[in-house]
Amino acid sequence: MEYIFKIFRFDPKDEKHPRSYFQEFLHEPGPNDSIIEALMAIRNQQDPTLSFRYSCREAICGSCAMVINGTISLACKTTVASLNTPLITIEPLPNLKVQKDLMVDMEPFFSALEQIKPYLQSNGEPPPEGHKIEEKDMEKIDQFTTCIMCGCCYSACPVASRDERYLGPIALAKLYRFVQDPRDRRDFSDWVHVNSPKGLWGCDTVFKCNDVCPKKVRPADGIIALRKKMIIEKSKRIFKRKP
Ligand code: FES
Repeated sequence: MEYIFKIFRFDPKDEKHPRSYFQEFLHEPGPNDSIIEALMAIRNQQDPTLSFRYSCREAICGSCAMVINGTISLACKTTVASLNTPLITIEPLPNLKVQKDLMVDMEPFFSALEQIKPYLQSNGEPPPEGHKIEEKDMEKIDQFTTCIMCGCCYSACPVASRDERYLGPIALAKLYRFVQDPRDRRDFSDWVHVNSPKGLWGCDTVFKCNDVCPKKVRPADGIIALRKKMIIEKSKRIFKRKP
């Protein structure tokens, strides 16, 4: 069966099309083809200038996130047949600047992540038995470790769409993952900077990030848990100060 692929096009160097537009391609995919396979076939057979990102094609690298028929998802995880319609509209991720066609500039997303130092911080020599973690502690943070950093949550976030200073769902959820990890030795002074409207208190708790995550991570749950942790840590310090 032939499908119509209506694809967002934009090339800042294309003088003929100074604005973005949609271009339609007719293509007959294989019965189990994913959207990324359909895009690759269209690029290989019809238009070699069509630009989009992908790598693993197995929902691991997180590079193929886009908007498919109005839903933010991974192009390698979405099959053409699952959409149940002959018209497929494909657009780049919202909340991020389009570089070309379906490719967006992920810099704001990664710079937010960088600000929370998303790695375990130790202070000194590792214990002889290694950095072990109890199963019960791991259970609390496990879901956040499966994030593939695809940017779906950031693109679905209404706060990120109106405030580019907002750190975004996964940066905050990942911070929770580290401060809750008993192996992490970061000081409170290293993460108190998220106690602000551009951090923890910016989230509107509309849970869009939870809805779109292709790996079933629930970033909003991490933000809420981190808010609680922040309040506890702040109160500890206030009571300590009292004579
Ligand atoms: Fe790696 Fe889709 S290509 S997640």
